[in-house]
Amino acid sequence: MTAILLDGAAIARQVYSQLEQRVAALNNQGVRPGLAAVEVGGNPASLVYIRNKVRACAAAGLHSEVHEFTADCPESVLLAALDKLNRNPLVHGIIVQLPLPRGLEAGRIVQSIAIEKDVDGFGWRNLGALIAGHPLFVPGTPLGVMTMLDHAGIAIEGRNAVVVGRSTVVGKPMALLLIARGATVTVCNSKTVDLGDFTRRADILVVAAGRAGLVTGDMVKPGAVVIDVGINRRADGKLVGDVAFESVRAKASYLTPVPGGVGPMTVAMLIANTVSAAERSIAATRPASATR
Ligand code: GUN
Repeated sequence: MTAILLDGAAIARQVYSQLEQRVAALNNQGVRPGLAAVEVGGNPASLVYIRNKVRACAAAGLHSEVHEFTADCPESVLLAALDKLNRNPLVHGIIVQLPLPRGLEAGRIVQSIAIEKDVDGFGWRNLGALIAGHPLFVPGTPLGVMTMLDHAGIAIEGRNAVVVGRSTVVGKPMALLLIARGATVTVCNSKTVDLGDFTRRADILVVAAGRAGLVTGDMVKPGAVVIDVGINRRADGKLVGDVAFESVRAKASYLTPVPGGVGPMTVAMLIANTVSAAERSIAATRPASATR
């Protein structure tokens, strides 16, 4: 078997084209959706990710602004900047690009983003609401994975899903979304003993452990759907996922490439969340009589 590759860039283009009308409707009401990105310490990978998000905003007709801080910036300065952004009516979504430099506690800083602007969905209130099934925003990467599965018409209910990775950004919300859709979900991580024993049971295997080549073809059930969330830069500069591409491609029914798989979907979901935040901001300020 040779897996069908799930083209994240193509699916993302469809997401953007569906957003066009919603952005136009907002513009007609005098609102341009706006995203503010906070970057601390100049991490080269973070700068690339932020540049991609700024480009995506421009292409989708969103306002964006980047607030950069040095690695030695005190937490109080970041909290004050976030407080100001929370109150800025031109900004509907706020993200703090992770990871933060050593010495800054991401948890506390991300928590200070207002829930209605937490378009990364990393705040505890959004993550907690995800457990109950009612988040305002779902983190972009797992939401992008669900969108790709649905786009390809892959059934989820009743199937064995294995998530490798237990991060708050991907693994945990990914497991919750799959549970909500009726999958039987197992969460492993890079330290799981006999990882292959678990992954070989997966009909849907999502790998987000941050280890190049962690999952090889012999660890995959024939015909499984394999979603590779990893982005690792090899010594020769090449970007690779967490999945050994060629050997897994020979076993899986569907596979996401790296790059060009989940990555573009993460950004598209962030833009979609920001548009939703702008829509919600209008609904929140409209007088009660105007909602009928
Ligand atoms: N670091 C890795 N992924 C993400 C993401 O989706 N959002 C932010 N803010 N930081 C990240």
